[in-house]
Amino acid sequence: MLETSLRNLPGQEEGRIYNFSAGPAVMPLPVLRQVQSEMLNYHGSGMSVMEMSHRSATFEAIIHTAEADLRQLYDIPTNYKVIFLQGGASLQFAMLPMNFLPQGQSADYILSGSWSQAAYKEARKLGQVRVAASTESEQFKRIPGPAEIQIDPQAAYAHFTSNNTIYGTQWAEEPEVGTVPLVCDASSDILSRPLDISKYGLLYGGAQKNAGPSGVTMVLVREEMLAKVPANLPAMLDYRLQAEKESLYNTPPTFAVYVLGLVAKWLLEIGGLPEIQRRNQEKAALLYSAIDHSGGYYQGHSAPDSRSLMNVTFRLPSEDLEKKFAKEATAAGLDGLKGHRSVGGLRASLYNAFPREGVEALVSFMRDFQQKNG
Ligand SMILES: Cc1ncc(COP(=O)(O)O)c(C=O)c1O
Repeated sequence: MLETSLRNLPGQEEGRIYNFSAGPAVMPLPVLRQVQSEMLNYHGSGMSVMEMSHRSATFEAIIHTAEADLRQLYDIPTNYKVIFLQGGASLQFAMLPMNFLPQGQSADYILSGSWSQAAYKEARKLGQVRVAASTESEQFKRIPGPAEIQIDPQAAYAHFTSNNTIYGTQWAEEPEVGTVPLVCDASSDILSRPLDISKYGLLYGGAQKNAGPSGVTMVLVREEMLAKVPANLPAMLDYRLQAEKESLYNTPPTFAVYVLGLVAKWLLEIGGLPEIQRRNQEKAALLYSAIDHSGGYYQGHSAPDSRSLMNVTFRLPSEDLEKKFAKEATAAGLDGLKGHRSVGGLRASLYNAFPREGVEALVSFMRDFQQKNG
């Protein structure tokens, strides 16, 4: 404890460590500072945002600004609604088929990792689903290629996961699905790169990796999709109602929306999504290059053409060495590197707010570790 509080790592506030957690994850320091400075008295309101009515003009301005900034970042077309919901991406796994998978139709799922499987399994409880492609037989080491993806042209929608947090793979481009509405779980790469939102029927993602604290999930949905929502859905699970009420049907996660809004502002200030993409590419390239130049000591889990810029997964020559690596890394201020139990090894999550200095520190730690233990 004492050691951590006295540590001063490059680019970090005193006592803060390099946080490689897969989520909830590192936040931009200027945002944390702003939250701190506004904690007791938000903009002269005399109270914290967490003490404020969600029906107040002050909070309405917060949620509308957050939406406007997201629209600007992604250049979201005007025929799309932006909704802020609770329940995480996991609730979207169920809400999506409840709203858009009518009886007599089937939905296509592309399985590129455990989270796409989770989405598929949830939908299977609610309607008819089909696997359009899967790389499970190869331990989800890669993203399926265009020739492997068989989309049913009659499908109600086609679902994919843009970044596979556990395996460390990412789609470089959206799958080709013709006229079928494309639906994306972007939980672990939302706001990390520019996207052409007009290609999507619906895109969703929890905030807690790239865009803010846990508790709020962003949903971008093409308006014409909302006409298909059945009439008898419970209110909280009804996209059309949530969109009509501008995410204020009931009490939204007010504090999480506020912080998400600050992260959106921070992204705009640093140069928007092209700039954050450039930074993310640079950080990931540093780490992949260290893996590739280790003479095989470090082995990447994902196929090189499917590598994620967000989650870098790699193995060491033995599980004992992996444990030792994670333990010593934590002691050196590099925390959260233990891989997911289904893949093993190490995982470095390099989300938007993760500093380049932290990647440099990891690369240097990896060299030292290999020298001592190779
Ligand atoms: C790609 C992806 N989808 C869905 C989830 C589940 O998200 P939540 O915990 O917000 O339900 C995660 C969580 O890590 C994820 O990485």
